[in-house]
Formats: sequence, C-alpha cells, structure tokens
Amino acid sequence: MAIRNVREIGDPVLNKTSKEVKEITDRTRELIEDMFDTMYEANGVGLAAPQVGILKRIVVIDVTGEEPYLLINPVILETSGEQTGNEGCLSVPGKTGIVTRPNYVKVKAYDENLEPFELEGTELLARAICHELEHLDGHLYVEKVEGELMDVADLYEDEED
Ligand code: NI
Repeated sequence: MAIRNVREIGDPVLNKTSKEVKEITDRTRELIEDMFDTMYEANGVGLAAPQVGILKRIVVIDVTGEEPYLLINPVILETSGEQTGNEGCLSVPGKTGIVTRPNYVKVKAYDENLEPFELEGTELLARAICHELEHLDGHLYVEKVEGELMDVADLYEDEED
C-alpha cells in the first residue's frame, strides 16, 4: 500500500491531456493500487491518474465505499437528465461549488486486463464519472461552478444556522 501525493490546483499537470493506456504493466498495476489507496485515505469518491502526476487515462471511483470501479480509457457513450449539486475535488482541498451534471451516464471503459465493459451510473456515480473523466482532458470542476467557489467549512456553518 502506498499513498501518493495528490497534486493541487495550480500544478500544470492537472491541465494536461492524459494518454491512452495501451498495455498493463506491473507499474500500471501498482499505480492502480496506489490510486485506490490514495482515494480511500483522503476519503474521496474518485481519483484520476493525473491527480497523482501520471498522465494516463485511468480513473478510480467508489461513491459508497463498497463499490470500487476502475475505468481505463473511459469514454462516455450516453448521458441524460440533469442534477445540480455540490461538488469537490481532492485537488482543490477545502473547497466546494455547485455544478450541474447529467443525472445518468453510460460509459465504456477497459478493466485491468484491458477487457472492455460498460458501466451505467445515476446521481452521485454519474457525477463522479463526469468529474473524473474531465481530469483526463485537463479540466477541473472549478471551471463549471455556478456562482462562487465556497469553503467547505463555511458550508457546514451555514447548515447549522
Ligand atoms: Ni477531482
């Protein structure tokens, strides 16, 4: 188990386009394992390889803590509906903002053996898929925030009032 350093907003690696994975090597497997460890350690629901400084099209997601998904070379096939809600990112620590996303997403991706599969998600899973895939093209959710980017601490304060 190894926790990798999560790159933060302002780090140029987060604005670069990641490359397709063409083969799975021992290093790729180690990266995937470390990405899951790093995501769980940070209590995140998703992590993309560029967030740990590796420009490869690899994403890990787990929105419940019990449903780990690995998406290699993911491509969105279909979206529908709309959801508007708060979003955050391990690369933008302590911040949150309102983002509108599709409420349903169908994605094609490859597993750790480079076998293709499809995954459908709604609500938080759909949101996480959209958010993480954008990291692979060098985009952060802050570009899409409606209104102001807020401090997470302030958000909780408001809820107590
Ligand atoms: Ni993120």
